[in-house]
Amino acid sequence: MKTRKGVILAGGLGSRLNPISLAISKQLMPVYDKPMIFYPLSTLMLAGIKEFLIITNPYHLNSFQRLLGEGEQLGINITYECQEKPDGIAQALLIAETFLGDSPLVLILGDNLFHGNELLPKLEIATKKEQGATIFAYPVSDPSRYGVIDFDINGRALGIEEKPLNPKSRYAITGIYFYDHTAISKAKLLSPSDRGELEISSVNEMYLNESALDVQIMGRGMAWLDTGTFDSLQEAGEYIRALEKRQGLKVGSPEEVAWRKGWINDTELEKIAQKYIKSGYGEYLFELLKMRS
Ligand code: TTP
Repeated sequence: MKTRKGVILAGGLGSRLNPISLAISKQLMPVYDKPMIFYPLSTLMLAGIKEFLIITNPYHLNSFQRLLGEGEQLGINITYECQEKPDGIAQALLIAETFLGDSPLVLILGDNLFHGNELLPKLEIATKKEQGATIFAYPVSDPSRYGVIDFDINGRALGIEEKPLNPKSRYAITGIYFYDHTAISKAKLLSPSDRGELEISSVNEMYLNESALDVQIMGRGMAWLDTGTFDSLQEAGEYIRALEKRQGLKVGSPEEVAWRKGWINDTELEKIAQKYIKSGYGEYLFELLKMRS
């Protein structure tokens, strides 16, 4: 099997966060002690992904590059593309075509935070699957805001609807999608929906119609956090802060993941820790080295 590549979609308008989002990309805003994009980046690194494409809007490209560069400090490779306008999540597949070639991929939204015990095993299974797609469904109280999937009594997926007024279930489709390379040709068949977007739900529907869609439920023990509004952004930060204070361990540190995976060595981690020494983030990276020695 070809190595799976990662695509992080970090464009969009962030209009629900105006005026903060006028000058700052939503995905670079702080979620407690780190920029938002660290969380989805760490999630994909945990899944073993080492080759990344980050898609941003043209105004914020420089900021992402300043933050993450080409990824060598994390033992990974990052390239960048721009999305001129937020014409839909599925457009990411078209923008990523050259980067992907015929590799399988995982697409994650740059503002999606996942946390919980179930995460790693679920990601590992999805990563290994060679054909078809895996998506994750999570029960929410406000399904109308999302792509919604409903199931028959045997738990088999029946249908997908984008932002339905009368949702048939409580299961929202989360912003992480594992696809084989046919996702690109599927995306090419799309035309803009009534709201003018290339819908990722339509790509998922195509996999469903081919009986090639694996839907994994993320249980209530998992956290899938929203960061799109003032309150949800603040709440996500509070959640991360509470966990980190209690455990003395950080959630969503790409440096830690790279080091634990052996993609960077102690000296390389120490160099990053030194750079951030005046913040608790740097201190934490030093702590990791001390805990092990
Ligand atoms: P949304 O939350 O739907 O949009 P947004 O982030 O622009 O926010 P708002 O509704 O406040 O205007 O997007 C979900 C994620 O997908 C987010 O990380 C932005 C990203 N996205 C793109 O990068 N390009 C797109 O064309 C779309 C639709 C979303």
